[in-house]
Amino acid sequence: MLRIEKLGRRFGRNTAVSAVSMDIPKGQMVGIIGPSGSGKSTLLRLVSRLIDPTEGRILHADVDVAQLNGRDLRQWRADCAMMAAQFNLVGQLNATTNVLSGLLAGMPHWRTKARIFTPRERAVALQSLDRVGMAHAARQRVAVLSQAGQKRVAIARALAQKPKVLLADDPVAQLDQTQAADVMAALRAINRQDGVTVICALADPQVAKASCDRIIGMRDGRVVFDGTPDQLGRAQLCDIFGRDAGVTFDDASALTMVNAA
Ligand SMILES: Nc1ncnc2c1ncn2[C@@H]1O[C@H](COP(=O)(O)OP(=O)(O)O)[C@@H](O)[C@H]1O
Ligand SMILES: [Mg+2]
Repeated sequence: MLRIEKLGRRFGRNTAVSAVSMDIPKGQMVGIIGPSGSGKSTLLRLVSRLIDPTEGRILHADVDVAQLNGRDLRQWRADCAMMAAQFNLVGQLNATTNVLSGLLAGMPHWRTKARIFTPRERAVALQSLDRVGMAHAARQRVAVLSQAGQKRVAIARALAQKPKVLLADDPVAQLDQTQAADVMAALRAINRQDGVTVICALADPQVAKASCDRIIGMRDGRVVFDGTPDQLGRAQLCDIFGRDAGVTFDDASALTMVNAA
């Protein structure tokens, strides 16, 4: 269980995340939706400890993740894989090497410097690529892969970490609907098969509705909706995105829903 308590983060005078509280049971797949600037990325970055909160606590298995440092912090970063929006893949390296770099999160410094991997680690990397249907691309440079292929490699990279929690910041950015559904299905499969808690920030509420157990709507750094996909209707979408925010939807049906409300 991941428990977020009154979490807040200010940047100077700007409050990016404010008084956010939620309990996320192990194995849940959560979609965080909200307009651009509503605090989705900041919330994920707080949970992964890429940035520190200015208020509140993040409890995982009763340990306050926000207080960890040194070795314990490295362990948390290994347990909690972050697929960032730009995916931190290295284009000129092949897919396997990119996936292996995901393993560095939990390693001592000398190993991260040497970048020496054991045959066992290489096997884990290949298995991870295989699970997302990218084994054929193991030796290909990431730069030559399609957008969707690159996202799959990013998922494999997270998967190789064998995380307890997988955070994905806008995993379907720049993909068309079919590719987006594909990437969400890959995340869903990991969530179901491995019991990994998955939290994704998603711009399109329809993508969230189609693939998540639970949806959290954010606006101006606060949670304004927390419920099941079924409970997310027109009125709730308006609360989250505002009446005139229809242009932020890629999906025509979502646009219609907001405009009709
Ligand atoms: N590193 C930062 N420095 C200053 N302001 C930031 C920083 N990161 C985010 N913000 C601000 O915090 C708010 C929330 O941003 P973000 O979490 O990126 O929203 P979202 O991912 O929902 O688009 C925005 O107003 C943004 O400008
Ligand atoms: Mg963002």
